[in-house]
Amino acid sequence: MNKTRKLIIAGNWKMNKTVAEAQDMVRRLKIDLGTIKDVDMVICPPFTALAEVSKAIIDTTIRLGAQNMSENNFGAHTGEIAAGMLKEFSVRYVILGHSERRQFQKETNELICKKAHAAHAASLKPIICVGETLEEREAGKTQKVIETQVVGCLKNLNGGQVMEAILAYEPVWAIGTGKTATPDQAQDVHAYIRALVAQLYDETVAQHVRIQYGGSVKPGNARELMELPDVDGALVGGASLDERSFADIIKNSI
Ligand code: PGA
Repeated sequence: MNKTRKLIIAGNWKMNKTVAEAQDMVRRLKIDLGTIKDVDMVICPPFTALAEVSKAIIDTTIRLGAQNMSENNFGAHTGEIAAGMLKEFSVRYVILGHSERRQFQKETNELICKKAHAAHAASLKPIICVGETLEEREAGKTQKVIETQVVGCLKNLNGGQVMEAILAYEPVWAIGTGKTATPDQAQDVHAYIRALVAQLYDETVAQHVRIQYGGSVKPGNARELMELPDVDGALVGGASLDERSFADIIKNSI
């Protein structure tokens, strides 16, 4: 697939896989995908598997991401993990503001923004998630919700930082539900986000920033989504847990 921005496909394993299961998955992923260079491939295991996965992917083109991090660098924050600690395991990406964290851990745009600044300070690339609920979509509020999230999460980040970041559009109603946004629905919101970035920064930043789609991405729908002009990759949940289906999503997107 010939696109101006390099596709980035990330697997978000969420709270799944023991260290042994993660090792087994990576062993098989390496055989299938280990040398692919046309797509940026990222896997985001739980914190407990980062050390072993990091060692296992050392000689491959697969990169490591974390699923969350603290906005603080160190100190009395029980249960939290700092960007610097992730760097110890060669983590390069970090998912921030996933809708599950917005919903269950009550993460706000302000907090996600602080985390994005902390990620950049540690040279980690944040994958900043935005997306509307079904209720918001049905009430015709999709653009307003996305605008508030994008503006809030990018506050005081400079253009260079935004170009390094990845935005992930994940309609909440499509996550883990089997309901994928139609290509038109996805393209509409992706184009809207890009126009918003152009308005907040400039056209160069907007043309540079990669915007992933997430929400029930599967081998069967990956290609039509990745072909959309403003879709630059995928954030995959459920289908990234199975080696075959994650590998097929990547292969079908090339
Ligand atoms: P899903 O999850 O692919 O299982 O819908 C996507 C996500 O939560 O990032």
